[in-house]
Amino acid sequence: MPITVTPFEAGIGADISGVDLSEVSPAEVDQIRKAWVAHQVLRFRGQKLDDDSLANFSANFGELEGAPIGFKTMNYKTDRPEVTVISNIKIDGEAIGGLGDGEAEWHSDMTYIDMPPDASALYSLEIPASGGNTWFMDMYDAYDALSDDLKAKLNGLTCKHDATRSSDGKLRNGFEETYSREDLPGAIHPLVIQHPESGRNALYLGRRLNAHVMELSPAESDALLDQLWVHVRAHAKTWSQEWQIGDLVMWDNRCTMHRRDSFDASSRRLMHRTQVRGSTKPVAA
Ligand code: SIN
Repeated sequence: MPITVTPFEAGIGADISGVDLSEVSPAEVDQIRKAWVAHQVLRFRGQKLDDDSLANFSANFGELEGAPIGFKTMNYKTDRPEVTVISNIKIDGEAIGGLGDGEAEWHSDMTYIDMPPDASALYSLEIPASGGNTWFMDMYDAYDALSDDLKAKLNGLTCKHDATRSSDGKLRNGFEETYSREDLPGAIHPLVIQHPESGRNALYLGRRLNAHVMELSPAESDALLDQLWVHVRAHAKTWSQEWQIGDLVMWDNRCTMHRRDSFDASSRRLMHRTQVRGSTKPVAA
């Protein structure tokens, strides 16, 4: 059966059908890679993947990243170290994965390291009856929709991305509550990057919490970042993934942000995740 790519009406993302991700051919990987660069977020429905097939499929797109800081658990093990867990489930009082049941704010993954992942893939094993949708934002579109004045103002500016907190705002293990912006652990990246494969410019915000534009005073930095976040929330294209069991969603972490809705704490949500290690540092546009 040939692979079919059906773009979502939202203008970001596409459904991919006609492929079994547990046994993809090189030609199919090539088609999927092209679709991923073109559409930024891909959804594959009805997949049956164990950790080996999830990791093996993901490894077609590059070397796999280890778990983000603070994601290890004693009571639940995946079958591959590169497969990490996003879940609210607890075993003997210990969370088996990251992010719990609360809202996760808009972010790109692991931008607090020098070479953030190129791709992330999330595979659903258990889902709540409602809630827990994952939203994706088009950061090319976010950039394109800026005024010319604002685009010019962003030229040459860099932003520090905080390593100390996860996208639900929780302090990761081993960090202090507060730091000066100079001492804050994290990575500094250009505010506008050029995507290494598409060549397009993308606004590269990472997340809002503890972000600092290093060339500006703290007050100017906050004013500019607040302006940019108001802009992206109001103008950038978004698409929301309503999960079914067996969905695999894979996104380009260089030109998207994502967030997650909260869900009922008494329900169970279990996702296995892989990340493809960054192939380059984010480069200024
Ligand atoms: C994430 O923010 O990386 C996870 C999103 C989700 O749980 O749907």
